[in-house]
Amino acid sequence: MAYIGPIQPLIISRDRGLPPDSVIFGRSPKMQRVREAVEKLQGHNLTILIQGESGTGKEILAMLLHDRSPWAKGALVKVSCPAIPGTLLESELFGYERGAFTGAYGSKPGRVELAQGGTLFLDEIGELDLGLQAKLLQLLQDGQFSRIGGQVDKRVELRVICATNRRLDQEAQAGTFRRDLFYRINVASVCVPPLRERREDIRDLVEYFLETQSAGFNCKLKPLSPGLMRVLENYEWPGNIRQLENLIKRYVILGTEDAITADLMEVASSSFDTQISDPGPFSLKKLVRQAAQDCERKIILEALQAHQWNRRHTARALRIGYRTLLQKMQQARLAGRNGNGRSEGTESLPAIPGQPPGYEIPPEAPALRGSGNGKSGNGSDRSHYKKQHKAIIEEHKHGEPAIQA
Ligand SMILES: Nc1ncnc2c1ncn2[C@@H]1O[C@H](COP(=O)(O)OP(=O)(O)OP(=O)(O)O)[C@@H](O)[C@H]1O
Ligand SMILES: [Mg+2]
Repeated sequence: MAYIGPIQPLIISRDRGLPPDSVIFGRSPKMQRVREAVEKLQGHNLTILIQGESGTGKEILAMLLHDRSPWAKGALVKVSCPAIPGTLLESELFGYERGAFTGAYGSKPGRVELAQGGTLFLDEIGELDLGLQAKLLQLLQDGQFSRIGGQVDKRVELRVICATNRRLDQEAQAGTFRRDLFYRINVASVCVPPLRERREDIRDLVEYFLETQSAGFNCKLKPLSPGLMRVLENYEWPGNIRQLENLIKRYVILGTEDAITADLMEVASSSFDTQISDPGPFSLKKLVRQAAQDCERKIILEALQAHQWNRRHTARALRIGYRTLLQKMQQARLAGRNGNGRSEGTESLPAIPGQPPGYEIPPEAPALRGSGNGKSGNGSDRSHYKKQHKAIIEEHKHGEPAIQA
């Protein structure tokens, strides 16, 4: 085995600058359960398994658990299992003695020894190969291990925290992860919910990231518009909090909401649904066309919402012509024109003398809607509505909106 020097920083800095508890745990019921679990577990010397999708904050919880434990006096030593090639992982974890393999000119302690009196954080433990799993099991059972090429067993006192974004229970059933190790590390587990299951926390997270990123880049930005905030609260967040954090960073650097919408559109377009509901024969061409249309509708709708239904801004953000956008909105029934002012799933505007063919407002555009019977609920709605109406008429005359929504 060839020796290669250390690959990543061993010890997570003490000055971690963790977000405040109110941001880490938010207000959602699912995160309150996580908070309760953390409070119960923090003082006990139990191995803890933190589970959750990528970017949900597993590492943040590991740091918090360490900081609040009796092992906080020691170091928090992280081992990112997938980042270290298989053959090197054993020497990184357990260390080696001189002459253990070609190139081992001296001896070296592993990260297990460096974590003496502190916490060993095994990130993505599902990536450990079966041989190393056996060695780890011995460490967890009796605190003993041996360096590669070592003749004697060593003993350490430490706490182990593991994290994974994989279903280790299923892998243990399937035999790809040692069942005995799974039971050993799963003594206490914390499941971090994905961001889409804690939407109540999105607004606070956005505000926190806006504040910290703006301070980091030394700039002051307007808060996000209510329309865009609604989009963020309804978005699926496949990359969870990490994706949200990066999005806000991009907004802070570029200073425009278009930066965010363009990003969201890209993700949406790469993740549209192509489920086949009918098990019978199907036309691939038809399915693909339908999926593409659904995806396009979703993107246009999200972009419109992000730009408060301002079509000129939306077209610019999507990098298509204004007329193309109108055409696509019509095709996607986001604004239908059928002469009688009605079509499925939309509401029609009340007749106004001299108006162009019936222009419909999609149900997703509450700001533009009246009461649906032509009599709007309140005066300001009504005047806003009339303004929109006039703008639409102008738009028909000149092909460009007269006022901005
Ligand atoms: N509650 C939170 N408050 C503020 N920032 C958070 C929170 N949770 C996560 N983050 C931020 O999101 C990013 C991802 O968090 P973290 O690395 O802890 O996730 P993870 O679950 O370990 O992801 P992975 O599985 O990809 O390793 C980090 O930059 C972190 O600072
Ligand atoms: Mg992580």
